[in-house]
Amino acid sequence: MMKRTVIRGTGRYVPPRLVTNDDLSQWMDTSDEWIRQRTGIEQRYWVPEEGGVGSSDLGLEASKIALQRAGWAPEDLDLIIFATLSPDLFFPGCGCIMQHKLGLAATPALDIRQQCTGFLYGLTTADAYIRSGLANRILLVGAEVHSTGLDISTAGRDVAVIFGDGAGAVCLESLESNEPIGVLGSALHADGKFANSLMVEVGSSRLNPRISHELIDEGRHYPVMDGKAIFKLAVQKLPEVVIEVLKKAGLDLEAVDLLIPHQANLRINQFFAHSMKLPEEKVFNNIQRYGNTTAASIPIAFDEALEMNRIGDGSTVVFLGLGAGLTWGAVVARLGP
Ligand SMILES: CC(C)(COP(=O)(O)OP(=O)(O)OC[C@H]1O[C@@H](n2cnc3c(N)ncnc32)[C@H](O)[C@@H]1OP(=O)(O)O)[C@@H](O)C(=O)NCCC(=O)NCCS
Repeated sequence: MMKRTVIRGTGRYVPPRLVTNDDLSQWMDTSDEWIRQRTGIEQRYWVPEEGGVGSSDLGLEASKIALQRAGWAPEDLDLIIFATLSPDLFFPGCGCIMQHKLGLAATPALDIRQQCTGFLYGLTTADAYIRSGLANRILLVGAEVHSTGLDISTAGRDVAVIFGDGAGAVCLESLESNEPIGVLGSALHADGKFANSLMVEVGSSRLNPRISHELIDEGRHYPVMDGKAIFKLAVQKLPEVVIEVLKKAGLDLEAVDLLIPHQANLRINQFFAHSMKLPEEKVFNNIQRYGNTTAASIPIAFDEALEMNRIGDGSTVVFLGLGAGLTWGAVVARLGP
């Protein structure tokens, strides 16, 4: 019998502050029409303006739901994997902070800094832990608070309109089975040549001091993005990596019930569907309502797709994404009872 990684429970959480495109156009020179046309985004949720809510807080809420659906107590966990690019603190990681909020005192916790592919790298890491027998029950969380780090003036509009806050979580369990169930294959990639295409530079260990009034005056603590370059890379690499992962798993595209891409831009996902000759309903999108929530976007979409009965027990799903790093990848899984 083989050890396999099966998904037991999912959860999602977004903060209550709804920010529409019209809200954004009060703070910067943009419009609902521009944002919808270029990105598909209609609204996003942001944490309270006064602060005090970090990624660990959003992750905690999503985790509580996932744990409850799996029927697990926090004490049942062997490992917590927390994916975020917007940690509560520069260090230590959010995994440790959330672990304490779950009431745990010794459960190992690690952070993954893979941005939009954080969930894919996290799921693959969890699968390796489970297959090797190092862990039986893992909580994987993707959570982001972007809003407190965005330039919401016109200078930052290309980035600020895209990002939303939120969290998604999944419970992963070891199952001995010879059936093709759970995680069936994974393909992960990175190319650091493109690190500067999407990054936040300050505070940075290569600057001394890491942060200063001058750097802040120059706005170098805000994310910078070469949107066109990222767009082109995404539409090229996402089809390639999906073909690669299906080949690894010995599956045809026809065997896939739903593809759940990272929600970076509705146009990217439409390009992807078109180039794979997939009907629109086979590719799940919810960026319209959440914006791009980076490491949270795939688990939020997965939880919603389950809730909407777009998928269920027996469904084969492919998770895929590309983002800062540059990193990209895909994971194929069969959901099971
Ligand atoms: C960001 C993105 C929507 C920009 O769309 P684009 O078609 O490339 O637009 P450009 O950057 O060329 O800008 C076109 C014009 O719109 C303007 N513009 C940029 N942001 C704007 C905004 N929020 N509102 C109004 N106008 C805006 C630009 O200033 C530019 O004006 P100009 O022609 O007078 O110079 C698009 O490149 C994208 O989505 N890329 C992928 C990004 C991504 O996926 N990031 C996350 C990776 S995980």
